[in-house]
Amino acid sequence: MKVTDREFALELDANDPLGKYRSEFFIGDANVCYLDGNSLGRLPHKTIKVINDYLINDWGSKVVEGWNDWIEEPFTTGDLIGSATLGAAPGQVLATDTTSINFYQLAGAALAARPGRKTIIIDEANFPTDRYILQGYAKERGLNLITINNEDPAISTHERITPEILEKYLSDDVAFVSFEVIQYRSGARNDVKAITDMARKYGALTIWDCSHAVGALDLQFDRDGIDLAVGCTYKFGSSGPGSPAWMYVAKRVQSELQVPIQGWHAQENQFEMGSTFKKASGLAGFQIATPSIIALRSVQTSFGIIEEAGIRNIEEKCAKGTQMMIDLYDAWLAPLGFTLNTPRNAKERGGHVSLVHPDAKRIAFALRAFADVIPDYRAPNSVRLAISPLQNSYVEIWDGFQRLRDLVSTRQYEKVENTNSKVT
Ligand SMILES: Cc1ncc(COP(=O)(O)O)c(C=O)c1O
Repeated sequence: MKVTDREFALELDANDPLGKYRSEFFIGDANVCYLDGNSLGRLPHKTIKVINDYLINDWGSKVVEGWNDWIEEPFTTGDLIGSATLGAAPGQVLATDTTSINFYQLAGAALAARPGRKTIIIDEANFPTDRYILQGYAKERGLNLITINNEDPAISTHERITPEILEKYLSDDVAFVSFEVIQYRSGARNDVKAITDMARKYGALTIWDCSHAVGALDLQFDRDGIDLAVGCTYKFGSSGPGSPAWMYVAKRVQSELQVPIQGWHAQENQFEMGSTFKKASGLAGFQIATPSIIALRSVQTSFGIIEEAGIRNIEEKCAKGTQMMIDLYDAWLAPLGFTLNTPRNAKERGGHVSLVHPDAKRIAFALRAFADVIPDYRAPNSVRLAISPLQNSYVEIWDGFQRLRDLVSTRQYEKVENTNSKVT
């Protein structure tokens, strides 16, 4: 059977050990091909019940007395994220705040842990919030911020950072380096262990942004000796728009790190309300403030589903689904003027592919307007399409690609009038 036969996708679905999970998610319109789970995952039915139960049985019934039951939830939720997706033993993952805030916190802590070092390193293709935060630190503290130009094909393929690329910029002046596990635009996967080891050779820490990897890939932070990482829970994690993010701080560096915001939840003996700050030991010393328990319940529900399904199975389906996308691209989309900006080697990519086209923005908008396909668009010229293994069937992806082919081959996408939208 050829990949261009719809039966090919139906056969994959028939043999998919994760197929049963699709019915656990709220699907408003079954005709829609939702290929944007790398941006916002779908709502698990169970979350509706869990949040309702929380409102009535916790907040409603217990009011302030509930805090004795709730106060540990950033830690227990973090442990669940760690065991389900990060290969992290308990006591190292904190579910809290946003990815941006956690990144600011860990970058500040890493700088303080390497006094005298004045250089920090990031890449041009990294997510804007990470680059902007480091630009802020560089300006405020007079640091040397090196931004590796991995958008230049002479330097990197598909924006990937390799130890060889990185080593040219390393010295004993580097406090830390920071990269994404999965490049948000191209979908390329970096080798977290090899890069962390390379930075460590020069005495530098590494902060990983795992936003596009967590819940899609079998990460093994403890095994790979990762220092620090951050990520969200609303993409492949399906915990809802703006759901709490997380930070990973390896046990071996917890005592030497102090985050810049010394909030009252990080205080030893918090409720003694002492006059000066004394950092609590362990991960408690990284929590700033009062957690949103309602939001944490949503994270617990969706990461519970991920744990049950098994992150290895999920990674395997990401590889198969993206392979089908690449094969359909070769058959249908390359002749229509698309180019693939995602590695062909499954070990070098995650759950999404990036298709470059000079008219990518109009195409992405037209897919929504005319074809019931939800992708996203990333400037300047990429359409991103994802498989979210617990929610997507293979045939949903196949249908989405067929509609994309037809929209472009008939030039129907040129009829889209409005490409103005706050969010792309
Ligand atoms: C790779 C990456 N890092 C950071 C962020 C920022 O996340 P937040 O707005 O939740 O802080 C995002 C958001 O999409 C992202 O994709």
